[in-house]
Amino acid sequence: MNDLAGKHIVLGLSGGIACYKSAELCRLLTKAGATVQVVMSEAATRFITPMTMQALSNRPVVTSQWDAREPNHMPHINLGREADALLIAPASANLMARLVQGRADDLLTLMCLARPLERVALLLAPAMNREMWAHPATQRNVSQLQADGAVVFPVGQGDQACGEVGDGRMLEPQELLDLLVAHFQPKVLAGHRVLVTAGPTFEAIDPVRGITNHSSGKMGFAVARAAREAGAEVTLVAGPVHLPTPWGVRRLNVQSALDMQAVVQAEVEHATVFVAAAAVADWRPATAYDQKIKKDGSGQPPVLSFVENPDILAGVAASERAQRGELFCVGFAAESHDLEAHAQAKRARKGVPLLVGNIGPATFGQDDNALLLVDEHGCRAVPHGPKLALARQLVAEIARRLGRVA
Ligand code: C5P
Repeated sequence: MNDLAGKHIVLGLSGGIACYKSAELCRLLTKAGATVQVVMSEAATRFITPMTMQALSNRPVVTSQWDAREPNHMPHINLGREADALLIAPASANLMARLVQGRADDLLTLMCLARPLERVALLLAPAMNREMWAHPATQRNVSQLQADGAVVFPVGQGDQACGEVGDGRMLEPQELLDLLVAHFQPKVLAGHRVLVTAGPTFEAIDPVRGITNHSSGKMGFAVARAAREAGAEVTLVAGPVHLPTPWGVRRLNVQSALDMQAVVQAEVEHATVFVAAAAVADWRPATAYDQKIKKDGSGQPPVLSFVENPDILAGVAASERAQRGELFCVGFAAESHDLEAHAQAKRARKGVPLLVGNIGPATFGQDDNALLLVDEHGCRAVPHGPKLALARQLVAEIARRLGRVA
């Protein structure tokens, strides 16, 4: 997706072995549609060449405040004025210490100090040895940078280039891209707590078999990501799917509809928005056998009987908090035909203010979808597009109904 189309990003590199990841980050930024101007400190050029970064960004790299190519000889002013954001990755311990003091003794620090504070965000991706990261001086600097208006991304955990293991790695390029994209989304759900269900459920027949469905979970995961990008605290109750957890989202894995119901009931009391995107199995086997059902040689298959699963969404929508308007509930309906009529009927049956219809067989497992938003006044089509783009529109719609404007 062209999530950064029209954005101009200044990618600053200070010295650190994590500079090798910045090459990939630069590529991801341009692939996402951004124009990228790379600025490197002298130390950064010892870890990766400006030539590499120039080839990837398609622009000459700037390394010095004495760069004579700028007509007004003021690269430190021009760079910040032109940017939509300054992303410093890696941000070394030394760079952060110098930023805290407002130093301006090289182009990177000059540029950060000279940026228009209100308009151009400064985003820092720290990278350093675990002892350096844990040191009180570094932690003090992080707090001060945040107080001064910078966004300091978290660090990753794991093997470090120095051979040690711990906190301090720079986040992976894809994670940094996701965080930057999220940064630009309007924070229309800030202060809200959103609970999302996603994926299929798995209803056990015996320890090795069960019934499930084709839901991939992609739409629900996209809703969770979009809500997080919009500034909400998000909990995602996921059936059995192999999707990565969106950045910053708390994920709780479940198997069966009864598991999902128990987790939702425990979590929903903290939520202000509930989005039920899971394809919950309508029925489960009346008995889940402890041992594998064996063929007995008679040629007769076992006879299974089923019981209906509880309707999780209808139960939540009927709760006191939902009825009092403290919890906004949104349902999904996957239909094969007559989408509007079925979606309206389902909305009334579940007792939710907003129901999202889609054509099930056309969307299962796909990255794209098309939605029909159905409420008491009628319906609105959200045309075909990537699930994340649709999820962002759904989040904007929910925010509007909660009285938030983008
Ligand atoms: O009735 P149907 O399964 O078509 O309803 C779909 C909507 O209801 C979805 O929002 C789904 O997550 C929710 N649902 C539920 N519990 C069920 C069945 C569906 O929460 N047992």
